[in-house]
Amino acid sequence: MLVSLFCVLWLVGACHSVSIVEQDVLRFGQELEQLLNTTFSPCQDFFGYVCGRTANQTLRLQQEQLRFQQLLRLNNPDKLLAMEQQLLNFYKSCQSGRSLDSLMSTQLYKSSGGWPALESSSINQTGLGWLGLLSQFHEMGAPYFFETRISMQSNKRLVTLQPDVTRRHTLRKFEQRVGELLQSFGVEQSRAHIVSLEVLSLERNRRDIIKTERIDDQVQFSYANFKRCSFGNFSMSRLDWDAYFRNLLGGKMLKPTDAIVVRQLPRLVDYIQLLQNTSMHRLLNWIWIDYLIDIVTADCQQLADIYAGDVYAHLLQRLSTDRVQLTQMYASIGRAYKAQLVGSVWIDEISEQSSKRFLSQVMHIMLNGDEYLDAAYQDLQLGRRNFYRNMEKLRRFQHNRPPPSPAALQLRQFARGFETIYGLLPKQQHQNLTAPLGYVLLAERFARHLVAAGSSSRTPGAWRSMDSDRQFAQFVNCSKTATNTNAHELLLNTLAQRLAGSSYREWLGQQPTANRVNVLLAAGRLQLSLQRLYFIGNLLMECPEGQQEHKRQLQHTLLRNTPEFSEAFNCRFGDALYVQPQPCHLAENLARNVSA
Ligand SMILES: *[C@@H]1O[C@H](CO)[C@@H](O)[C@H](O)[C@H]1NC(C)=O
Ligand SMILES: *[C@@H]1O[C@H](CO)[C@@H](O)[C@H](O)[C@H]1NC(C)=O
Ligand SMILES: *[C@@H]1O[C@H](CO)[C@@H](O)[C@H](O)[C@H]1NC(C)=O
Ligand SMILES: *[C@@H]1O[C@H](CO)[C@@H](O)[C@H](O)[C@H]1NC(C)=O
Ligand SMILES: *[C@@H]1O[C@H](CO)[C@@H](O)[C@H](O)[C@H]1NC(C)=O
Ligand SMILES: *[C@@H]1O[C@H](CO)[C@@H](O)[C@H](O)[C@H]1NC(C)=O
Ligand SMILES: *[C@@H]1O[C@H](CO)[C@@H](O)[C@H](O)[C@H]1NC(C)=O
Repeated sequence: MLVSLFCVLWLVGACHSVSIVEQDVLRFGQELEQLLNTTFSPCQDFFGYVCGRTANQTLRLQQEQLRFQQLLRLNNPDKLLAMEQQLLNFYKSCQSGRSLDSLMSTQLYKSSGGWPALESSSINQTGLGWLGLLSQFHEMGAPYFFETRISMQSNKRLVTLQPDVTRRHTLRKFEQRVGELLQSFGVEQSRAHIVSLEVLSLERNRRDIIKTERIDDQVQFSYANFKRCSFGNFSMSRLDWDAYFRNLLGGKMLKPTDAIVVRQLPRLVDYIQLLQNTSMHRLLNWIWIDYLIDIVTADCQQLADIYAGDVYAHLLQRLSTDRVQLTQMYASIGRAYKAQLVGSVWIDEISEQSSKRFLSQVMHIMLNGDEYLDAAYQDLQLGRRNFYRNMEKLRRFQHNRPPPSPAALQLRQFARGFETIYGLLPKQQHQNLTAPLGYVLLAERFARHLVAAGSSSRTPGAWRSMDSDRQFAQFVNCSKTATNTNAHELLLNTLAQRLAGSSYREWLGQQPTANRVNVLLAAGRLQLSLQRLYFIGNLLMECPEGQQEHKRQLQHTLLRNTPEFSEAFNCRFGDALYVQPQPCHLAENLARNVSA
């Protein structure tokens, strides 16, 4: 494929002066031959044309993973921020440090009493009792049987106990995975069989408790009363709750007057009776199996994402990107936002402030990294060798952090787009993502996040100013959208397309080689152009996620109101996506109606 690319270049006589910009775009144009479904005509079904190829998700995931690994290898670790380095360590330990020895040398393994399936004879009596065992896991952020949340309310602690009702697998699947897990740790077959039976029977009992319908009410106790109370013939005083809470509170004690709120008390009592009636041996087998089942063979990239999602997202957008060029692109879209939306009827000052903050954060992160995030991870120390030790530290660390702010979540969600880019550009191995592909793949996504960042709420359209109700009603009427939610989505997409599209056109205007690139693109099999690439690339980024039919309709409504699209693809009267006679003139609505 590269050969044919250079042939084309040579024919046009441009071979010697081909710039990186051109290379990027032309290579992407070639890759599109593998990505688009040309049985659809772009003017009839653009969504089908761009997203209609039966994508091989397995292959795509593999490409993403491969690309990420390549990037990690390429990147000079000196240039990583401390937290990024930690994540890299975690990743490396995951790839090489999942051995039995690693597991057995962890703090959690030793203090819990170990996993009897592995070493039934040498297991040490820790004398923990089941509540003590649970406290080891709860303290790390693995809420087996019930979750304990502790907060302060004026000068008292408020503890909420919430019985667990999660079932990650069907019982049959669970059974299968237990078998696989025991095998992967080399547990001898007849012992594995016995362990399986034990664990399954506990799992079945646990599920029976989950299945029982319980009213979601709550009962409040003082801590002193909680410790004294009895349920049926079982008295709480038989359990060492002091030790449990001391472990969770890092050595501190609950006061007798602190409040304990139990949600679904009957379910908690069921669990307590089950645990009372279960041997430690069986419980240890169950808990270690359940703990390991999801991490022992899981993909390392996914684990990094699940357990350190903010750093992972941070790293994604900074690896292998031309940071300066992308920052310039963000700034340019930010200027378009200011010119086209600030002072318009659609947004108010609060919205504008949040969007501005989002813009400056993304730019800052791209150029310098997020020092607040870096500082938050300062106390975490992950090595490169022992995965299980890292896992334990990381989970405990995340468990003790406050939940992320909506603004932080928004940043993280935006950064996820880079993962899709890795899947799309597996061949761009030794290249950084530069401005042309930034515009082609990322500009609209960024613009959407920029506009929507004007609200901390997830409600569609919450960023829109109340002053625009009249204009919005007109927009709904004109675009004939079925529901308000869809109309808000369409409005957001329309605005984003305007911001991103105008920035792209401005950028193109500054590229001396744009015409030549267009000639080269047009000569290819797909007869592309820089304008076409923009529409294709920005939609391509949205293909992998679900809700296909909904997206198709949304996208097509948008395109029927976009004269530039019909122009770029030479759509004609009669084509399904030919621009409608009177496209919704958002522009007319843009200026704030002073008399209103
Ligand atoms: C293109 O779309 C058609 C119609 O949906 C489908 O039958 C065909 O398999 C698609 N082609 C590829 C390569 O996925
Ligand atoms: C998808 O890709 C994987 C990995 O390359 C391959 O094993 C599998 O056969 C492919 N599936 C299809 C339906 O092409
Ligand atoms: C049990 O105790 C022995 C000796 O104290 C120790 O070597 C071993 O690691 C312990 N095993 C577990 C699972 O804690
Ligand atoms: C307590 O009651 C449960 C049933 O609610 C029963 O299975 C158990 O044997 C009783 N235990 C004692 C010590 O009486
Ligand atoms: C306690 O465990 C035994 C043996 O596992 C079982 O037969 C019995 O039904 C259990 N009792 C309760 C109350 O769960
Ligand atoms: C990619 O960008 C990084 C800095 O962000 C730089 O160190 C590296 O040399 C660049 N790679 C290429 C191939 O341009
Ligand atoms: C909706 O649009 C139609 C034209 O498409 C127009 O006749 C009608 O007055 C509009 N209704 C409202 C409420 O704006």
